Amino acid sequence: LRLFLPRDAAALALGAEDVARAITAEAARRGVEVTLVRTGSRGMIWLEPLLEVERDGIRQGFGPVTPADIPALFEAGFDDHPSALGPVEDIPFLARQTRLTFARCGVTDPFDLDAYRAHGGLAGLDRARAMTPAEIVQEVTDSGLRGRGGAGFPTGVKWRTVLEARGPRKYIVCNADEGDSGSFADRMLMEGDPFALIEGMAIAARAVGADRGYVYIRSEYPHAIAAMERAAGIARAAGLLGAAARGSGAAFDIEIRVGAGAYVCGEETSLLNSIEGRRGEVRAKPPLPAHKGLFGRPTAVNNVLTLAAVPAILAQGAAAYARFGLGRSRGTIPIQIAGNARRAGLFETGFGLSLGEIVEEIAGGTASGRPVKAVQVGGPLGAYFPPALFDTPFGYEEFDGAGGLIGHAGITVFDDTADMGALARFAFEFCAEESCGKCTPCRIGAVRGAEAVDRLCAGDTGALPLLGDLCETMRAASLCALGGFTPYPVESALRHFPEEFGLGRAAAE
Ligand code: NAI
Ligand code: SF4
Repeated sequence: LRLFLPRDAAALALGAEDVARAITAEAARRGVEVTLVRTGSRGMIWLEPLLEVERDGIRQGFGPVTPADIPALFEAGFDDHPSALGPVEDIPFLARQTRLTFARCGVTDPFDLDAYRAHGGLAGLDRARAMTPAEIVQEVTDSGLRGRGGAGFPTGVKWRTVLEARGPRKYIVCNADEGDSGSFADRMLMEGDPFALIEGMAIAARAVGADRGYVYIRSEYPHAIAAMERAAGIARAAGLLGAAARGSGAAFDIEIRVGAGAYVCGEETSLLNSIEGRRGEVRAKPPLPAHKGLFGRPTAVNNVLTLAAVPAILAQGAAAYARFGLGRSRGTIPIQIAGNARRAGLFETGFGLSLGEIVEEIAGGTASGRPVKAVQVGGPLGAYFPPALFDTPFGYEEFDGAGGLIGHAGITVFDDTADMGALARFAFEFCAEESCGKCTPCRIGAVRGAEAVDRLCAGDTGALPLLGDLCETMRAASLCALGGFTPYPVESALRHFPEEFGLGRAAAE
């Protein structure tokens, strides 16, 4: 009997370890031989812990299961049980996805390199090793891949800049700080398919001429840190990393670095300072990290999802990836649905679905069953979208045109009890709390902004011009996106929900 159960942090938080213990105990009691494969998560969080049983090559799902369900599941031969979901891949939430980056997540044991290869892993690196650096960069450029951390900068252009930069040493830095609340794709990938990230980094290293890489992971992710350490050790032992890889012309090794809990350390230059052992403070750009990054050397800083998309691009070809998407947003995007959502989880799809399809059809509306009032897209610095804007297609330019941003593709759903004044205030509070203090618009503006929202919500409409000025100054004069993007949630809340600030629609425009 072959069973599969996630060991992803979300599944663990929902009791997966107790379920695993119950399976082992019940199997021993019955004298049944069971192979329990621990996987990553499929991303259907509302079904976790999701137990799968392989029968005739098809994985049948049961979820959410509790330890109390296990004796009955054994008794029924894992057939007829109230938690039965049928074939996992036929569950509409999964069946509707295009899984390229997350193809193996929830399917294989994250530390089984043979399973990784059997499911398409390392084909991209094998192909890259037969290509010149410039050819790899061209392939990534042709795929249309853009930075999945949030800014959407073309990855091929960034890599070309590093490739062409002169320096005795170059670096690949993976940004796994994932500070956006409501985002969890980086964590899921590192816990569920860490070799995909390692392979992506090895390809990137070959493309730009780097021999050393760093993965900077937030300290709040102990399971991801442990998974990356373990997977790097396995990859090293297998000769995929380290000096042993030299024979293949791919000398490259990685080091896992742990952050200390500052949101701003997800900003690439603060992150570089932090790796160097300095205070996590933003550096002025230029120089770009691509020219002068870690320890002053040319450095490609890429998000986990960007790097993890690369193996599939190399394996299947740029055109196969670029075939998905909309306009200048090519390929797939792992959307993370969180907040008050009936079906919260990770949904990887080609760009182009409308926000309404994602929120109403895929997420199934709110968990509370009340009407959706707004969704915040792109983390705590993203704009609030009311249902009137749900026809906005999921694409970088399309969201920009609607006054928002995709960011790291986290979507947080709110029902009609949400207090938009409090949410606008929270944006300023968050900025004040996380500001690195280097520039005045952010350091002071965030504090004054929270006060202005308080005045407005207390009926003092005289605070409105001040709020407008603060937002404009923060947007235009902040050194980084923390201060620069705080106006998004504030202004969108004001624009779409003026009555909650005691304003008429015209005043809020
Ligand atoms: P940015 O637009 O300044 O830069 C984007 C990237 O392109 C950087 O790596 C930059 O060095 C590079 N770049 C720009 N011009 C280049 C050139 N000519 N050649 C080579 N490289 C070039 O944006 P930034 O400040 O790096 O990121 C802001 C984004 O971060 C926001 O859109 C926000 O959504 C996102 N974000 C994501 C979070 C998360 O948890 N993933 C948290 C907070 C913000
Ligand atoms: Fe620091 Fe804020 Fe300025 Fe960014 S905007 S550099 S976080 S003070």
